[in-house]
Amino acid sequence: MVVMGEETLYDPSLLLELDFHKSPAKFEPFISAAHPGEPWMKVRPLQDGDYEKGFIQLLGQLTATGTVTKTQFLTRFSQMKALGDYYVTVIEDTRSKTIIGAASLVIERKFIRGCGLRGRLEDVVVNNTYRGKQLGKLIVVTVTLLANHLGCYKMSLDCKDKLIPFYTSLGYLLEPGNSNSMTIRYDGGSKLVSNLTAATNTLSLEGPS
Ligand SMILES: CC(C)(COP(=O)(O)OP(=O)(O)OC[C@H]1O[C@@H](n2cnc3c(N)ncnc32)[C@H](O)[C@@H]1OP(=O)(O)O)[C@@H](O)C(=O)NCCC(=O)NCCS
Repeated sequence: MVVMGEETLYDPSLLLELDFHKSPAKFEPFISAAHPGEPWMKVRPLQDGDYEKGFIQLLGQLTATGTVTKTQFLTRFSQMKALGDYYVTVIEDTRSKTIIGAASLVIERKFIRGCGLRGRLEDVVVNNTYRGKQLGKLIVVTVTLLANHLGCYKMSLDCKDKLIPFYTSLGYLLEPGNSNSMTIRYDGGSKLVSNLTAATNTLSLEGPS
């Protein structure tokens, strides 16, 4: 029976199957999703009760979230779960029942590469009072290994210049001649505003093809 508030977005046992020794990330001390280093820390899929645990407030440290009601959160949670390609992953401080880190793997289903799967890393954030303690590395490596485990042929992300060293240390690369990120924003005006975001880079991590 699934307890209200503890319904998970995806199968949590997937996180126990990841081999953190496969990542080039240097953890000192060594930690993993199964053993995050503190008894009060848990790495797990997003749950339907995480609205109450400050998940949206945490995303607010990444970007503008707008107002998200509990109903909207639960509707989006159900949609993502039904689609099955969203692996929103969080770190909880179980002492305060607060979400302190998050990252999403979104799987894109392709026709190319023999109907291959491409992973996209999205919405990476660690609560500012917990930064600098390896949690950013932990959550990014978790979803990166998960993409590999689920059969993705590559995983990519967009980031600001200053975070290139962070992602490079985790195995992501700026591919020469192929690392631009372009955006068109639909901000509600009558005109479409496009821009090549010079400050944003696309990094990729390729699996064996
Ligand atoms: C980026 C972020 C997730 C890192 O989280 P964290 O828990 O502090 O990261 P870690 O403790 O695992 O640090 C890993 C390494 O990256 C470096 N690093 C972390 N944040 C950095 C930043 N903003 N700029 C440059 N380097 C950074 C650390 O110095 C550390 O280096 P080290 O291993 O050589 O000591 C966190 O700063 C954050 O949430 N920032 C705001 C949201 C954001 O920018 N998200 C990324 C969107 S692409």
